[in-house]
Amino acid sequence: MQNTNASQIAVFLGISLDGFIAGEGGDLSWLSDAASASPEETGYDALMARTDALVLGRNTYDSVRGFTEWPFGNKPVYVLTNRPLVPAFGERVLQGDIERVLQAAQSSSGGTIYLDGGDVVRQAMRKNLVDELTLSWVPVVLGSGIRLFEGGLPRSRWKLTGTRLLESGMVQASYRRAP
Ligand SMILES: NC(=O)c1ccc[n+]([C@@H]2O[C@H](COP(=O)([O-])OP(=O)(O)OC[C@H]3O[C@@H](n4cnc5c(N)ncnc54)[C@H](OP(=O)(O)O)[C@@H]3O)[C@@H](O)[C@H]2O)c1
Repeated sequence: MQNTNASQIAVFLGISLDGFIAGEGGDLSWLSDAASASPEETGYDALMARTDALVLGRNTYDSVRGFTEWPFGNKPVYVLTNRPLVPAFGERVLQGDIERVLQAAQSSSGGTIYLDGGDVVRQAMRKNLVDELTLSWVPVVLGSGIRLFEGGLPRSRWKLTGTRLLESGMVQASYRRAP
């Protein structure tokens, strides 16, 4: 997929020092415990402001459904799943090849997609579909859980586009995939 500046697949993840995006059983408590930065400070709000639609893996979606509030407002949300899902906020289900799924979301909702999850991000990275990658390193070692980078990925080069040290102790690095 050729993405122009108006058509982007963006990934924005909090990650432990040892490379996990969730602890055992999907535990996310370490994200708020270790890094109390606000969504404005982390750049999450700015990303959401330019996001046309979100594409979530089922496990991430299930975690979000456990939050006290639905965090995506009226943004279109597509959930990748092979299982039945009863939408509560207009979520739409997609499945199959990640490239086709992302293209379908872009054609229906617009070019900038916030792709969220571990498995789904790896699928997109295997096909070189991720354009922007922002990792916020949380100063905690989890030891076990759900890793972001596992299972083999093709080599890809990235250009560092920004770094920030947040007061909470998080170090954020933003990258753009190099051509
Ligand atoms: N630290 C952070 O910033 C951050 C951000 C996001 C998420 N998380 C957490 O990280 C964990 C992510 O979990 P994860 O990596 O296992 O999963 P995920 O990417 O959220 O979801 C994976 C699941 O989505 C479904 N799926 C994936 N690709 C599909 C496709 N092409 N077609 C149809 N269905 C597809 C499959 O479920 P089924 O086949 O069972 O339907 C698959 O098991 C969660 O605990 C989440 O809360 C952390």
